[in-house]
Amino acid sequence: MTASFDFSGRSVLVTGGSSGIGLAIARGFRDAGARVAITGTKGGIADYPDDLSAFTYQQVNMLDVSAVEALAEGVEQLDVLVNNAGTTFRGAAAYDPENFEATIDINLNSVYRLCHRLQPKLQPSGGSIINIASMTSYFGSPRGPGYGASKSAILQMTMSLGALWAQSGVRVNAIAPGWISTNLTAPIQDMPEIADPILQRTPMGRWGKPDEMIGTALFLASSDAAGFITGVTIPVDGGYCCL
Ligand SMILES: NC(=O)c1ccc[n+]([C@@H]2O[C@H](COP(=O)([O-])OP(=O)(O)OC[C@H]3O[C@@H](n4cnc5c(N)ncnc54)[C@H](OP(=O)(O)O)[C@@H]3O)[C@@H](O)[C@H]2O)c1
Repeated sequence: MTASFDFSGRSVLVTGGSSGIGLAIARGFRDAGARVAITGTKGGIADYPDDLSAFTYQQVNMLDVSAVEALAEGVEQLDVLVNNAGTTFRGAAAYDPENFEATIDINLNSVYRLCHRLQPKLQPSGGSIINIASMTSYFGSPRGPGYGASKSAILQMTMSLGALWAQSGVRVNAIAPGWISTNLTAPIQDMPEIADPILQRTPMGRWGKPDEMIGTALFLASSDAAGFITGVTIPVDGGYCCL
């Protein structure tokens, strides 16, 4: 994608920027001139298949509250926070109460903690927070109740924090990706009983690509383009929400 926005001199943090949607968004901000820091769960960038050398990397497991606190503590100044790290449990494990709780901790509680800790560091720069929601923010998630609960709450929290900080100079928005081809969805892409209904229900009839999230992320982060937008969640979903 050709960058249409200029983030030269800006600092961006993308959690879960080591792969998939987060990596695409991190590359998008880098291509637009920003200094980009990413997080992942592994020890270092050599542990990942993609070249992450353009980014500052920090190992953070969002289940580890002290690691999340240390991440926030280490940030001096920030223009854009992208709360992207997320996961789900599959099969019978998805219904285990401990895993429900872990999913909420990773996908929701860590996001709130980072918003709370980093909002004061975003404020001076008229910064922006972008959360990553999901189609399960809007629809039931019978294969992953914890995932659906966490993503639905991301949409709600985005509205709440958007309103709370509206006059502070910090805007809070979210992107709700449709079904995107990433490591997270790799296990179901080859399962016709799951993949076929997804594609049939997606008017564009295909899986989305991580790069297709970049434009919306740059738009939402741009105070020139989106300066009067806060608290919204934008679906980027090939029309999935239309039906
Ligand atoms: N793919 C889709 O169809 C889709 C649709 C809607 C929403 N989303 C959301 O988009 C976001 C990115 O997902 P993706 O599809 O790009 O999947 P992905 O390629 O698996 O990327 C997930 C990212 O989150 C990190 N992560 C996973 N568990 C973590 C934990 N416990 N602590 C800290 N970081 C953790 C991963 O780190 P490692 O690389 O170290 O594992 C990775 O950087 C997630 O919030 C997901 O819910 C995805």
